Amino acid sequence: MQTEDILMCPGPNEIADRVIRAMMRPATCPIVGEFPEFYEQTMDLLAEVFQTRNEVIPLPGSGRSGLEGALTSVLEPGDRSLTIVNGMFGETAIRIANAVGGKAEGLAMPWGEPIDLQAFKQKLSSGSYKLVTMVHNETSTGALYDAAEVSQLAHEHGALFLLDAISSLAGADLPTDAWDVDLVVGCNHKAIGAPIGHAYVSVSERAWEVMAKRQQPCGSVFSNLLYWKPQPNEEPDAVRSMTRSQGVFTAVHLIYALNEALKMILEEGLEARFARHRLNAAAFRAGIHALGLETLAHPDVVSPTVTCVKLPEGITSVEFLKHFSEDHGLLTLRGLGDFNMNAVRIGHMGVTATPRNILHALHAFDLILKRLGHAHTCGAGVARASEIYAETDEHRA
Ligand SMILES: Cc1ncc(COP(=O)(O)O)c(C=O)c1O
Repeated sequence: MQTEDILMCPGPNEIADRVIRAMMRPATCPIVGEFPEFYEQTMDLLAEVFQTRNEVIPLPGSGRSGLEGALTSVLEPGDRSLTIVNGMFGETAIRIANAVGGKAEGLAMPWGEPIDLQAFKQKLSSGSYKLVTMVHNETSTGALYDAAEVSQLAHEHGALFLLDAISSLAGADLPTDAWDVDLVVGCNHKAIGAPIGHAYVSVSERAWEVMAKRQQPCGSVFSNLLYWKPQPNEEPDAVRSMTRSQGVFTAVHLIYALNEALKMILEEGLEARFARHRLNAAAFRAGIHALGLETLAHPDVVSPTVTCVKLPEGITSVEFLKHFSEDHGLLTLRGLGDFNMNAVRIGHMGVTATPRNILHALHAFDLILKRLGHAHTCGAGVARASEIYAETDEHRA
């Protein structure tokens, strides 16, 4: 029997029916009629999810469009930037920074380990950097990092601070303003639970100033965040004093979907949503460990949205994922870098972070591993995860 696979990728993941249905509306022009106010309201909701009073700019594309927009807008040719690299996605920021003419340096740390702040401080004081970047949730390893101290150190050094929150936004606490982050990059198709097609960048006053004071003009029109900066509203009877510029014609149907996804997030409440992600991630990890497998991230930095599972010796990610999809209707991706053939990454974010999917995935791991010759107690994964859910219910009762 053939059914649609459930997406348990580290993004994209499942989209709620009500978000899909929200797109079933007629074509409309984004700059006249009712849409401009709908757009404004949606951007206000988005800023709530970013936990910021800063402006959030929607750039069409995927997560990388957001990174490219942020980096292109603040870096001039020859500008030095420093990126903490503890997984594959730190490298992405370096690649883009160099591509836009910057001189990017990486501070490499072991994959999945906590950040070595001492090493960071030393590196920071060894040079003059215009920008510091790091990944909030390393999707290649399933590790989540606190960014407060890195942000503070970057600012003490006179640098801007960019946080790649592509796989954490709306799934893990991200206090943009409390952490004083200049540029936070997120996107639709991870924990927000909306269709692929938009990235978002929140921009601090400090970052706008850096853009305004550039010596050389930004080499891009589309990616130049200044083109998207809100402008004073000149309509005499306007409700808002500022109007957000639409840098390009907005993908209206994606904004309809985003609006619905944001309403779902805020109806659940950010705290409750983060707690749900933490609980389902904890149940999944405990179940995986009960099957005798290891997870990649250090216990101090485990991610609530993604887990990277190391497979037993002799079982490849390719054969595992074939069974995951064909026998169990679950779709996800291999590990990255050195873990490409011997690990898989499971996304539990947005609407996918539920006991139904976690228990389904653990059952699938159990049967596939058994079939491929791994010795473990059958049912141990589901049993352990069920205990975690039951303990949490007891606390709630
Ligand atoms: C942390 C992180 N940064 C950047 C990216 C690149 O985003 P995209 O593939 O949506 O362009 C990803 C994608 O998984 C990611 O997880």
